[in-house]
Amino acid sequence: MALVFVGFLVNSIVQGFLVDQRVGEQEKIADDIAVAIAPNFADANAVAVYDIAVEYGQDLGGRVLVLDTGGVVQVDSFSKLNGVRLTQDEIEQVRVGNKGAAHGLHKLDIPQDGSLASGGETRSVFVMYYASSIVFDGSMLGVVVLSVPIQDIIDQVGRANAQMRLVFIITCVIVVVVSFWVAHVIAKPIGELTKVIGKMSEGEVHQRVRVTGSSELSRLGAAFNEMSEQLERIEKNRNEFVSDVSHELKTPLSSMKILIESIIYDENVDHARQREFLQDVNREIDRLSSIIDDLLLLVSLDHSQSPMHTGVIRLDQLGESVVKRMQMLAERRGVALSYEAGDEVTVRADELKIQQALTNLIDNAIKYTPEGGSVVVTVVRREDRAVVCVTDTGFGIPEEDIKHIVERFYRVEKARTRSAGGTGLGLSIVQRIIKMHNGTLEIRSKEGEGTSVVFELPLFTLPQKEE
Ligand SMILES: Nc1ncnc2c1ncn2[C@@H]1O[C@H](COP(=O)(O)OP(=O)(O)O)[C@@H](O)[C@H]1O
Ligand SMILES: [Mg+2]
Repeated sequence: MALVFVGFLVNSIVQGFLVDQRVGEQEKIADDIAVAIAPNFADANAVAVYDIAVEYGQDLGGRVLVLDTGGVVQVDSFSKLNGVRLTQDEIEQVRVGNKGAAHGLHKLDIPQDGSLASGGETRSVFVMYYASSIVFDGSMLGVVVLSVPIQDIIDQVGRANAQMRLVFIITCVIVVVVSFWVAHVIAKPIGELTKVIGKMSEGEVHQRVRVTGSSELSRLGAAFNEMSEQLERIEKNRNEFVSDVSHELKTPLSSMKILIESIIYDENVDHARQREFLQDVNREIDRLSSIIDDLLLLVSLDHSQSPMHTGVIRLDQLGESVVKRMQMLAERRGVALSYEAGDEVTVRADELKIQQALTNLIDNAIKYTPEGGSVVVTVVRREDRAVVCVTDTGFGIPEEDIKHIVERFYRVEKARTRSAGGTGLGLSIVQRIIKMHNGTLEIRSKEGEGTSVVFELPLFTLPQKEE
C-alpha cells in the first residue's frame, strides 16, 4: 500500500514538474512569435506572417495560428483552418479578457501517421495551446495560438509508471514469499513447543525440545528444557522421597507385626515375656511417631510453609540455654555436656528454628558418643560470621559417609543408630534450617576420635552511623 501510494505521488510530482517546465519554455516562445509577427501583421503582410508561423511551427513540431481580434483564423501554419473562428478558453482569455498570455491543455485526435491528411487512423494525444496577444503600437491586433503536443511527457511518465508497477509486483511477491517463510520459521518451533507442553501437562515430564540457532526462539527452547529438567528432578526426588518414607515406616511396622504375632500365636509365651514384647511394640510406635514428626517438620521446611519468624537473637545465650536443657539427657547417657563461654554473638534468625537445629546437633553428639565421652558447644564471632561448634569425642563418621550424612534417612550404621533412636532426618532438618538463614554447615570427623559439626550464620550488626 505504501509503495503504491509513494509511486502515485512521485509520478504526479514528476509529471507536474515536467509539464510546468515545458509550459514555461513554450509560453515564452509564443510571446516571441507574437512579437515577431506583430509588425508584419500590422502591415497586413500575410506572406511574412505565414513564413514566421511555419518556421516556428516546424521548429517546435507544432502548429501556429494567427487570429484577428474577432477570433477568426487569418494564418494557419497548416493552412487548414483559415477563416474558422476559434473560441477555446485560453484564446478568449487573451482576446476579450485582456490577458497577455494564457494556455490550456486539450486532448485531440490526430492522424496516427502524423500526416495532416484527415481520415484514416487517429490517436488521442495531449496538446498544449498557448495564446499570446499581438500588440503593435499599443493596440491589440490579434492573437497568436501555438499548439504543441506534450504527449511525449505523458508517454515518458507512463513508461516510468509501468516500470514502477513491475517493481511493485516483484516487491509484493518477494514480501509475500518472505513473510510466509518467516511465519513458517517462527510458527514451526512454536508449534513443536506447544505439542511438547501439551504432552508435559499430561504428566510426561521427560519432554525436551530441539534447540536450533541462536535466536530468541532457541533461547526459549533452552529455557524450556531447563524447566523440564528441573521438573524431572523434582519428580524423581518426590518418588525417591515416597519410597524412602515407605521403607522407613515399613521397618517398625514389620517388627511390630512379628512381636504381636508371637504374642497371639505362641502359646508358650508367659506373661512377663508378653509384657516385654508389648514394651518393644510401644518403642516401635514411638519410633514411628518420631519419624513422622521429623518428616512433617522437614516437609514443612522444604515447602517454606513454615514462615520465618526472624528476630534479633543472642546466639550465645541460646546455645547456653539449649545445653542447659539437654543436660539431663547427657547425664543419663553418661556423657559430659558443657557450654564453653565465647563472645557475645547477635544474629537475625528464627529463634525456634535455630534452637531446633542446635538441639538436633547436640542430640546427635550425645547419641553417638559412648559413656564417659564429652560434648562441648561453643559460639564465637569470626569476622562477619557467627560460628557455632558442637564437638564430641564419639564414634566419629567414616570419611566416605560424611558427604552423604545430611541426606534424609542416611545413617552410618543402621542397626546402631536405630537402637540409639535415630530417624536419619535430624541432619537434613539442620541443613535445611541453616540454608534458610543463608548459613553454611560443615561436618568434620575422624572415626574413633570424634566429630565436630560447625555452622556459620551472618552476623547481625547495627547500621553504623556515619561520623
Ligand atoms: N556427632 C556424630 N557422631 C557420629 N556420627 C554422627 C554424628 N552426627 C550424626 N552422625 C551420623 O549421621 C547419621 C545421620 O544423622 P541424623 O541425620 O541426625 O540422623 P539420626 O541422628 O536420626 O540417625 C547418624 O545416623 C549417624 O550415623
Ligand atoms: Mg539426629
